[in-house]
Amino acid sequence: MSPDRSEALFARACAVTPGGVNSPVRAFRAVGGTPRFIRSAAGARLTDVDGREYVDLVGSWGPMLLGHAHPEVMAAVADALTRGTSYGAPTEAEVDLAEEIVDRTPVERVRFVSSGTEATMSAIRLARGFTERDLVVKFAGCYHGHVDALLASAGSGLTTLAVPGTPGVPETATALTRVLPYNDRDAVADLFAAEGDRIACLITEAAPGNMGVVPPEPGFNQFLAETCAAHGALFVSDEVMTGFRASRQGQWGLDGAHEGWTPDLMTFGKVMGGGFPAAAFGGRADVMGMLSPEGPVYQAGTLSGNPIATTAGLATLRLATDDVYAHLTRAGDAIKEAAAKALSENAVPHVVQSAGTMFSVFLTDGPVRDFEAAQTQDTAAFSAFFHSMLDQGVYLPPSAYEAWFVSAAHDDDAVQTVVDALPTAAAAARTAREATGA
Ligand SMILES: Cc1ncc(COP(=O)(O)O)c(C=O)c1O
Repeated sequence: MSPDRSEALFARACAVTPGGVNSPVRAFRAVGGTPRFIRSAAGARLTDVDGREYVDLVGSWGPMLLGHAHPEVMAAVADALTRGTSYGAPTEAEVDLAEEIVDRTPVERVRFVSSGTEATMSAIRLARGFTERDLVVKFAGCYHGHVDALLASAGSGLTTLAVPGTPGVPETATALTRVLPYNDRDAVADLFAAEGDRIACLITEAAPGNMGVVPPEPGFNQFLAETCAAHGALFVSDEVMTGFRASRQGQWGLDGAHEGWTPDLMTFGKVMGGGFPAAAFGGRADVMGMLSPEGPVYQAGTLSGNPIATTAGLATLRLATDDVYAHLTRAGDAIKEAAAKALSENAVPHVVQSAGTMFSVFLTDGPVRDFEAAQTQDTAAFSAFFHSMLDQGVYLPPSAYEAWFVSAAHDDDAVQTVVDALPTAAAAARTAREATGA
């Protein structure tokens, strides 16, 4: 069935919005074709404006841990809506949500913002204010939102100096950023040996999900925490994607809690907003105490701690019990196994990688431990694979560099739809490889 209404809407959208979308990856540019305009969502499924239904493996790029339109979350939101939508004054729900986050994670104090981008931007400002230093270190392939200083690419050759990752970011905005290869302890050690006394913070995705899922090698986050501590820099663990998703306690629950280290600052978003715009940064009490109005580092937001968003986030986190994470693991495992089997049977090189309940499928010979390796993927084969899945009613991330997300609502029926679609999609990937002579 051709996506007539989506096509018509996309044409209208392109006339009034750059690329027809409000966030680039939604435009399907990486895979070609027309993005599906969504009319509604419930449980594990999306329905587009042409009336086609899809099992959703995007989950709004992570937030929908419980599935779409979860009845209890909807009821809490509906109830909150009767009391107004924004006050610009503190509410009880903010305190409840902050306590829930403090309870699940190692952060001692937390400040709410509206997007993950704001969270990471504010965290690095706070780190700079606290340490009175200026350099920020990040890893190639890690995405922390569209903060100028963090939209930096690695410079050429062995240099760690960053270059702007997009026009519009001046060189001065990335001059104080250093970019290193992920999972590379030597590169980290060398940089800290050379410039450690100028480094305000190192920020990393707790387990990168924005180049596909690339888990930290055992002990890597611990090594980062210790290296930062040894040099008086702050360790900022970005759990916008992994937080309350990779496990009940995020990626920190998978390694930090066992290895015995604690980030100085953490950032959260996605799941903690339950599908509404809410995000946060938090951490050590002494560092957070530097934030205005208690301390001198300025940070603010008109809609920060919005009562509807905090209500949705709180309801989501309270419903995200151990049973939910066990279910995500089972559903994810079934999909991962079926994907690997289908791709193997079609001789399509691949590797499936996970960080707790978060996973992705790379169309490359594995393992993928950094961005360079992620870039060896066969993106033409992925496009064919993606479109075959879409035609069979499965909505995958429209890019080879993204995590796949399941939810508590992915029941046996939804998982079976995905499993049944995989052999045909793998065969399409094989045909695409043959066409390009791969
Ligand atoms: C790890 C990470 N940090 C930060 C962000 C930015 O969050 P937002 O899109 O809410 O600004 C994202 C978004 O995907 C993310 O995955």
